[in-house]
Amino acid sequence: MTPGRSSERSAPDPDPTADQATKDAMSNATTVSPAHSASTASTLITNIAALVTNDPSLGDSSPLGLIQDAAVVIEGDRIAWTGDQSKAPATDNRVDAGGRAVLPGFVDSHSHLVFAGDRTQEFNARMSGRPYSAGGIRTTVAATRAATDEELEANVTRYLAEALRQGTTTFETKSGYGLTTHDESRALRVAARHTDEVTFLGAHIVAPEFAEDPAAYVALVTGEMLDACAPHARWIDVFCEKGAFDGDQARAILTAGQARGLHPRIHANQLSYGPGVRLAVELDAASADHCTHLTDEDVDALANSRTVATLLPGAEFSTRAEWPDARRLLDAGATVALSTDCNPGSSFTSSVPFCIALAVRDMGMTPDEAVWSATAGGAAALRRTDIGRLTPGAYADLTLLDAPSHVHLAYRPGVPLVTGVWRRGERVL
Ligand code: NIG
Ligand code: FE
Repeated sequence: MTPGRSSERSAPDPDPTADQATKDAMSNATTVSPAHSASTASTLITNIAALVTNDPSLGDSSPLGLIQDAAVVIEGDRIAWTGDQSKAPATDNRVDAGGRAVLPGFVDSHSHLVFAGDRTQEFNARMSGRPYSAGGIRTTVAATRAATDEELEANVTRYLAEALRQGTTTFETKSGYGLTTHDESRALRVAARHTDEVTFLGAHIVAPEFAEDPAAYVALVTGEMLDACAPHARWIDVFCEKGAFDGDQARAILTAGQARGLHPRIHANQLSYGPGVRLAVELDAASADHCTHLTDEDVDALANSRTVATLLPGAEFSTRAEWPDARRLLDAGATVALSTDCNPGSSFTSSVPFCIALAVRDMGMTPDEAVWSATAGGAAALRRTDIGRLTPGAYADLTLLDAPSHVHLAYRPGVPLVTGVWRRGERVL
């Protein structure tokens, strides 16, 4: 469980001026009406049995920085104070957590939400013994191309609402079910209306029209399609896998994206051993995603890099595949993120708590490690330090569980424990 080692986006360090403003607002608590100003009012959440801060300098000094009998102060959209509830400052508003647990909102750093249709029959066939192959992606490509903008927008909105109810406050999402210049850029525009963490995945598979000429498809992805898509995305991704794109094609696609200011992340080593993970490290990708089939060299490369290994157990669950070995990565010193991979084919879940439970039960993670990976780990996979932790200056993204400890996320699998969510300081659940 390694804390994120770098960031391209970081929280502004709480400067003395801002701290003073916070203190002033707090000391005026008795004279400021709760309705005065949602954007600057301060709120104390107190009576928290267990608070996960992800700051090892706090509380029990573990990577979770766990504080018992804790309180948090939110000011505007940021965390202003975290600590022992007996030392909490006065605030405008007060929320009693009732002896429950609070943790950072989940950071789902890998999803594919811009799609239409579903693949129930494919799932049913798999659960009746048919193996998973990425070929089903074509079914979703056809449905997505046929959908209206409004249908795509409605789908994203629906799955995001579902994720929010389960405690996700930040998510990354991708294109990859359009595979034409028009459909890929349209998917990115839809995604960008909902999140800053948008990924161009024109290289999900070779578009069906180019089946006989994959080189021409790579030329399209690195040329006209990239030109149309780069303005709407932060990241570029490629499915580096047999039947999708090989190492040389993946390198060409990712370096073309880098030249247009996009940062790489890779679908790597999901279905078989291959060059994806080492390419991710070579290019300083923020994340190598899936990481199910790893050689010792792959594990070493990840451990000696700042590339996060993002594990997506929903995919192994829904394809009845071998679990990724989180223990091996953690013991080697790699940074691990845990995310949903929500998509209609290989992992149709928007639930980070479900992924935490799977990771603890079947991938060798402790509950603490799984919770860290789904919060701070996800933030590291997005090279962010302003989310995934509850310390002054970070965004006030919090999840309140109807349970006394974050451990219940794995201990009580399948139970809807999320009972409150704050996003950017606003209570949204
Ligand atoms: O992450 N691996 C490639 N992409 C998706 C699968 C998408 C699909 O089956 O539609 C994944 O598992
Ligand atoms: Fe994926």
